[in-house]
Amino acid sequence: MMEALDKQAIEILKDNDRGSYTVPTAGLYPYQWNWDSAFAALGFATFDVPRAWREIESLFSAQWDNGMVPHIVFHQPDDGYFPGPDVWQGKGPIASSGISQPPLVASFARKIHQRDPELGMEKLKTLFPALVNWHRWYMDCRAESGVVASSHPWESGRDNAPDWDEASEAIDISNVGEYKRRDTSHVDASMRPTKLDYDRYLALLYFGRDCGWNETEIADNSPFRVGDPTLHFTLLRGHRDLAEIGRMLGEDVSEIEGWIATLEAACQKLWNPEMSAFDSVNLRNGKFANSLSNASFLCWYAGIESPEMVEHLERYLANGHYLVPSYDPSGDKYDAKRYWRGPVWAIMNAMIGWGLEEQGHVTLARAVRQQTAGLIANYGFAEYFNPDDGTPAGGGHFTWTAAVWLSWSLSDLAGG
Ligand code: DGY
Repeated sequence: MMEALDKQAIEILKDNDRGSYTVPTAGLYPYQWNWDSAFAALGFATFDVPRAWREIESLFSAQWDNGMVPHIVFHQPDDGYFPGPDVWQGKGPIASSGISQPPLVASFARKIHQRDPELGMEKLKTLFPALVNWHRWYMDCRAESGVVASSHPWESGRDNAPDWDEASEAIDISNVGEYKRRDTSHVDASMRPTKLDYDRYLALLYFGRDCGWNETEIADNSPFRVGDPTLHFTLLRGHRDLAEIGRMLGEDVSEIEGWIATLEAACQKLWNPEMSAFDSVNLRNGKFANSLSNASFLCWYAGIESPEMVEHLERYLANGHYLVPSYDPSGDKYDAKRYWRGPVWAIMNAMIGWGLEEQGHVTLARAVRQQTAGLIANYGFAEYFNPDDGTPAGGGHFTWTAAVWLSWSLSDLAGG
């Protein structure tokens, strides 16, 4: 059975392969997405290392002059997705969106390097300056308060998480007008963001586009600026890996070490003492979101220890929910099927699991890994899963779920 699942995972990557980049799933997401591609590359690296590097190279072919690596790259026109390139009007060398996504590539490039160190060194040499430019863009254009800010719910990758509810009330949607969503023609609307969410996504997109993606204007005047544990912890982890890559290449990494110190110090700004947990914080008014999300548990991945976060995870385990729900099942906004408001995501589990393992939380790491394997083995390569009963939700035949299966060696787990 496990071998059959390995084969299925490889088939999914091959089916979603468009030559030099991989779509997250046909139909719902017909372009190249930034953090999806980082996972796709990890998956390819288990059976085709050169193809893994090609995935990263095609993503970076869309890097803007200011260093930003966009969250969507529109390589080929496709009517099945909204909002497309004509709406975004990105400023890069090829059509793209105007925001970024969690910076996973430096960390995953290190893992891919280990699969073939000789090829890896050659690729890292070329990639290193581009990675430094991207990370510097994050520090210059998102980290003005020390905490890494999300400029758009799509930038955090956790589109409709309860984290953004309070901050999003400041977004004026009066000029959004009529538009036709495409996502709900691919996936049941009960598993997707609401119309109000979409109105706000578009209002923010128009704000950025209409100022020509001017980062100073966005930082100073956009209605939405939220310190986000997804971006903060993945960038901190990314900086650590980037510094390691730099050392391997004999580069001066003092600038990167400075970034690490800045982000380490700012972790306490994401600490919500009332919840005893890492949380998102609205940088416009200082309010915490009061959302215990799966991103809160990325602390270990970033090298940050927290006994309280261990306790939260142990509570989930004791309550019999599949690990790790994207929002606390005892919270009043919990919705077991709706995207980032409850469901379990294999990609987040992978990063949480790697972090737990590295920090020596062996039992919890094993529980997260075992449960992720069980969800996929029992319910398929879904986009996400219901934490109450494991039901698959969102898109199917999903690239990053297949990539997690392969790169985290989930087939090694007896009994699935
Ligand atoms: C979508 O279209 O749902 C994506 O998450 C945006 O990045």
